[in-house]
Amino acid sequence: MEKPYILHMLSTEKNLSPFDVNMAQDAGWQVTMPYLHVKEDEVQGLVQDAIFSRGPAGVKREAVFIGGRDAECAVKMLKIAKESMVPPFEISVLADPSGAFTTAAAMVAAAERELDNKFDTGLSGKVVLILAGTGPVGQIAAVLCAKAGATVTIMGRQKEKSERVAKIVNEFFGEGQTNIAGEGNDKLPQLLPEADVIFATGAAGIQLLTAEQVAAAPKLKVAADVNAVPPEGIAGIDAMADGAPIAGSPSGAVGIGALAIGNIKYQAHHRLLKLMRETDKPVYLHFDQAFEMAREFIKSKK
Ligand SMILES: NC(=O)c1ccc[n+]([C@@H]2O[C@H](COP(=O)([O-])OP(=O)(O)OC[C@H]3O[C@@H](n4cnc5c(N)ncnc54)[C@H](OP(=O)(O)O)[C@@H]3O)[C@@H](O)[C@H]2O)c1
Repeated sequence: MEKPYILHMLSTEKNLSPFDVNMAQDAGWQVTMPYLHVKEDEVQGLVQDAIFSRGPAGVKREAVFIGGRDAECAVKMLKIAKESMVPPFEISVLADPSGAFTTAAAMVAAAERELDNKFDTGLSGKVVLILAGTGPVGQIAAVLCAKAGATVTIMGRQKEKSERVAKIVNEFFGEGQTNIAGEGNDKLPQLLPEADVIFATGAAGIQLLTAEQVAAAPKLKVAADVNAVPPEGIAGIDAMADGAPIAGSPSGAVGIGALAIGNIKYQAHHRLLKLMRETDKPVYLHFDQAFEMAREFIKSKK
């Protein structure tokens, strides 16, 4: 009898995300086993328990997924999991806490597509504002933009929190890069005139940019909003918008809404899960690979 495909799904929280369970099953993982309230120092034991219970052929039919809510913790767990492998007993690992890695990857890749299609340019050298960027989606969007050569400001209600998060993102995710800053929302009027790209990554159902503020951004090219719950996170960007002009933008900026981002996110997430199921050589996947998958999907639609 062929061994089933087992995905060991680790989370620091009390539940797995049902979204992640569905995605895993739909990508062909037959058993999606939850491990909840997992702490960093328990990862090695769990991973080694998983790898040593099957022979080298059977071990190819299992992998680890790391969820939870905390991006930094998930990346640390991914590293521990990778270091816990004992060749030839090795399995693939994907980290995507809160869906943040695949969501941020999809949003940034879609913005890059619009910069290219409508403005014949890229992220390099651009000024990016990430509204309510202190959560996991905003943090990862910041690092992807910064790695692509943009200057990024993470905005939030408290300047100290935004600065703290920006420091972590620069040092931990960005491995020492320095082009991400943190600012309080009260600084928005001074920052808007220079912004080329704006992302809204706030908690659901909160408007972060009004129509008047869109009108006060004369260099704005692309804006994207991940929040699907009304009101719009950025006024004038419908959840279905996929490169539509934003009414009232003096620079002809285009908008990308949550459902358009969600479609790319779905594709990237599905492909990462499928890659782990089909690969012969173990793969270790986080936001960088999610970004590659999102870019690949976008390219395939051209
Ligand atoms: N489209 C998709 O496919 C998709 C997929 C996954 C997630 N999402 C959406 O992505 C968004 C971001 O997710 P996340 O997990 O990163 O978010 P989060 O951690 O829940 O929130 C992000 C930030 O929002 C700010 N915030 C919270 N409550 C607020 C309030 N009442 N007023 C103003 N700001 C507030 C906070 O920043 P400060 O405290 O610093 O102000 C917080 O750090 C959510 O809307 C989620 O639903 C979309």
